[in-house]
Amino acid sequence: MNGAERLMLVLDAGTTSTRAMAFAPDGALRAVVQREITQHYPQPGRVEHNPEEIWQAALACAREVVSQGGGADRFAGIGITNQRETVVAWDRAKGQPLARALVWQDRRTADTCEGLRAAGHEPEVQRRTGLLLDPYFSATKMCWLIDNSGEVAAAAQAGTLALGTVESWLVFRLTGGAHISDASNASRTSLLALDGAQFDEGLCELFGVPRGALPEVVDCAGDFGATLPELFGAPIPILGLAGDQQAATIGQGCNAFGQVKATYGTGAFVLANMGGDLPASHHRLLGTVLSQLDGRRTYALEGSVFVAGSLIQWLRDSLGVIATAAETAALAASVPDSGGVVLVPALSGLGAPHWRPEARGALTGISFSTTRAHLARAALEAMSSQTRDLMEAFAADGVPWAMLRIDGGMSANDWMAQDLADILDLPVERPAFVETTALGAAMLAGLGSGWFASLEEAAAAMRGKIHRFEPAMDAPTRDVRLGRWRDALAKV
Ligand code: G3P
Repeated sequence: MNGAERLMLVLDAGTTSTRAMAFAPDGALRAVVQREITQHYPQPGRVEHNPEEIWQAALACAREVVSQGGGADRFAGIGITNQRETVVAWDRAKGQPLARALVWQDRRTADTCEGLRAAGHEPEVQRRTGLLLDPYFSATKMCWLIDNSGEVAAAAQAGTLALGTVESWLVFRLTGGAHISDASNASRTSLLALDGAQFDEGLCELFGVPRGALPEVVDCAGDFGATLPELFGAPIPILGLAGDQQAATIGQGCNAFGQVKATYGTGAFVLANMGGDLPASHHRLLGTVLSQLDGRRTYALEGSVFVAGSLIQWLRDSLGVIATAAETAALAASVPDSGGVVLVPALSGLGAPHWRPEARGALTGISFSTTRAHLARAALEAMSSQTRDLMEAFAADGVPWAMLRIDGGMSANDWMAQDLADILDLPVERPAFVETTALGAAMLAGLGSGWFASLEEAAAAMRGKIHRFEPAMDAPTRDVRLGRWRDALAKV
């Protein structure tokens, strides 16, 4: 580490792990520390996290990185990025969580969403927020906590309830009391109109969420307050905030209209930059805020797929058919095809473009000749098939892809990257550094600190080498694959 160099601290509070990283202004990664987050599954379809664990993991990782980086004074600031939609309820006066966090994958409010849909609210909610009625989003989760947790209800009565997504929770703890949410995270709650500056009174009323418990909506770059001095030995300013998928879009340098990225993490999330126009999908995609800078919003069209890396994790940890995630590439390459096996990974319902929270996974075409190599191959093939479904929905919405930029832990799998290019019949580009989410948060914080004058400048300075995968599959082979996928999808 260069003695005079200033660094940017990034906190990436993801679904399965929290990471802290230190970036140099040229994008070089100087330190990284990671901690797993415990997943609580109290009932089928329910997924919870302990908010205290989220905070302690973030703090421990950040402290370690600050110490490896030479102390708080070496850091120009902090960029925070996070799993989106997940809801934390805490007591503003005591600073303590009031219940387990309800995670974005949690489906417990499916009936509430169905009720709102039956009452005819979906078109209006979609027009105003860009989102559909699905338990994925925060609003029904917030309402569930108020209705089902005595502690949350009591704090609401007493006027001390704070509700927020994960970045709000971390900022509250880091600063000792600020209650803010950046517009990219706020746009995932169903409570922010795409063109509204603050949370919307009417939407709060519809979903039964007290507006007074919600944070103030702020930009994605700027000075959001400093960390309490005792946390890192000296205060560090918080300069960047964004939901992880928006941060990855920025980290991929998708700063021009139509540029599109796919991040393969726990789930797979495709976002296309839509500029300043309010996005309106007619093919079950989402409109969302990509960033807000100096009060000006850039929007994105999004396709959210709920299961990606978590499928590989399930094959490894629950079924035990693979020992490591990386092994899937060699296993997939060891067989000429999947032997007719198709895996539809609807393990927690289907997201875009299907939106079927009740759907469950399917494994079709198995026979006595099926081996674990076929299973691994079918799992990776499912990533390409799901992405292809999104590509068609984007094209139908008037946003055709010229190529796809991929990132996230799973994108390091060369076999999957090539299969994506083959099935999309498009070039696929992958940066050498696939943790683009964290890089995007560093770029935003770099903008906030004055390292850069624009996101374009940040991308030019911080993005590294890019590897390109060209499509090489013939059309008949692709058609057979996609035909099998559609048949299997029709069965779930
Ligand atoms: O919308 C959920 C998303 O933010 C989760 O991201 O990286 O945990 O798959 P990840």
